[in-house]
Amino acid sequence: MLPHKQIEARLHSAVRAVLPDADLAGVLVRPCPDAKFGDYQTTSLMALAKARKSNPRQLATDVLAKLDVAEVCERVDIAGAGFLNFWLKPSVLQAALTDAASGKHLFFEPTPQPRTAVIDFSSPNVAKPMHVGHIRSTILGDSLARTLRLLGHRVVTDNHIGDWGTQFGMLLVGWKRELDAAALQADAIGEMERIYKKLSAECKENPATLEAARQELVKLQGGDVENLRIWREMIALSQVQFDTIYGRLGVNFDHTLGESFYNPRLAGIVEELVAQGIARESEGALAIFFEDSPQLKDQPALIRKSDGGFNYTTTDLATLAHRLETWQPDEIIYVTDGRQQLHFQQIFAGFRKWRGGKAEGGKQKAEIKFAHVWFGSILGEDGKPFKTRSGETVKLADLLDEAEERAFKVVSEKSADLPEAQRREIARVIGLGAVKYADLLPNRQSDYVFSWDKMLALSGNTAPYLQYAYARIRSIFRKAEGTPSIQPPIPSIQLGQPEEVALAKQLLTFGLTLEAVAEEYRPNFLCNYLYDLAGRFTSFYEACPVLKAEPEVRASRLALCELTARVLRQGLEVLGIEVVEQM
Ligand code: ARG
Repeated sequence: MLPHKQIEARLHSAVRAVLPDADLAGVLVRPCPDAKFGDYQTTSLMALAKARKSNPRQLATDVLAKLDVAEVCERVDIAGAGFLNFWLKPSVLQAALTDAASGKHLFFEPTPQPRTAVIDFSSPNVAKPMHVGHIRSTILGDSLARTLRLLGHRVVTDNHIGDWGTQFGMLLVGWKRELDAAALQADAIGEMERIYKKLSAECKENPATLEAARQELVKLQGGDVENLRIWREMIALSQVQFDTIYGRLGVNFDHTLGESFYNPRLAGIVEELVAQGIARESEGALAIFFEDSPQLKDQPALIRKSDGGFNYTTTDLATLAHRLETWQPDEIIYVTDGRQQLHFQQIFAGFRKWRGGKAEGGKQKAEIKFAHVWFGSILGEDGKPFKTRSGETVKLADLLDEAEERAFKVVSEKSADLPEAQRREIARVIGLGAVKYADLLPNRQSDYVFSWDKMLALSGNTAPYLQYAYARIRSIFRKAEGTPSIQPPIPSIQLGQPEEVALAKQLLTFGLTLEAVAEEYRPNFLCNYLYDLAGRFTSFYEACPVLKAEPEVRASRLALCELTARVLRQGLEVLGIEVVEQM
């Protein structure tokens, strides 16, 4: 067991001895934010004391009296209003590093309680290009899926593409009247976007066009063979372009069940909601009302329009029901921009009214965790929403091309001697990594400014900096001929210098960082962790000679280099970012 898990287990026993009925799930051990005060910390006792209206410092004192961590810690302090700070024994740190060097773990362990999580992310709309707004959902969702999987959870990824709705009326009129077959061949989404824009402008001017679009939509909904054929073609053509982008980004989905998949269920769901008194009429439409909720009491959610059409909400309720029946998840995660916050509050509250919110099939299953993981906007350097020079939304494919192109310049300046094909491949990895990392690093709820120069810089908290740190470690092994990685006999790790200790301690908190990412849906924790790790590695490498050291110290330091490289590579992989051996 990793040392922090041991501390946590002992802490749980001590808390149970003092408060037999306490909920231990929230009693956690985390890295101490300031190394001056210890290696690990728990702040959980304060919440326990608060819930019982007792004195947190007294609770900390009582728990400490029952706490037996002598095997792992050399010291435990009570601090502040009732924290406990833990100091690891040097021998425990050294043993954990030696275990990692022998391949027993990479500072994380699979969870003893695997959950099933459905992650709904990316979800672009048919016949429209994926734009820069979809990048955040795609990249955040993908890194959450990777993190949860690495920790041993079951993950189901589902791309809820927008393949149904009123826009298809206009698209059908446009397709039949305006379609340029050659343009469709060359750039299908571009052509569909053109006809959509043309028709939507015309519908605003001309009531006859609007009526024509309405009729095409009614025909599609009624199962008209020709309209269904065209609609399916639009979906297939869009999917080809989406898949090209997903391929470049290395993103996979287990399922792509678009909005249309749920269509057959919508009428039944609306009937059920009305019969149960959850939805009622309002100005000719039907809506769910939330009188009992302080936040939502003035925000009814429409589930059927006055013309009989169904809403985004209706589809999402059907989607939720389907996911619960099909995958029995413990957790459903939606990754969209912040403007959909109200929508998801309504979905979660509406669903609990309707189905109670317990997992299906399970005996004593807990409440399902619904999470709306939302994010802010990407801004241009002028602080306004990020646009092309001519004021258009930035298409994702163009953005990725530009990233690779710019990275190619950087790589060619730095490593002019490498063959072009290799520079191209490095540029692909660096360019895509830079874009992804720039998106994952900021707190997801804040807006961020898109800056090529910043994200491609080789210094500072960027992907190229971390990729470079990795490649530099690999070059040490190239120089240490005959020492490609850690080789048996496994060296015992020696932590003689303070820089070695600092690096070792940072390595040891990799797993805790992954858990925090999964708990709070925040990959930025991992970005900052990796940046710190690279920094501590640099200090270590400057202070401690590796290749020139005495054989035993050399073997131990090479192992520290190797473990740092492994954690960097694994950490970046969880962020969806590749590495290269040489840059
Ligand atoms: N297609 C929507 C958009 O582009 C996102 C869908 C999010 N997922 C969901 N289940 N509503 O904004």
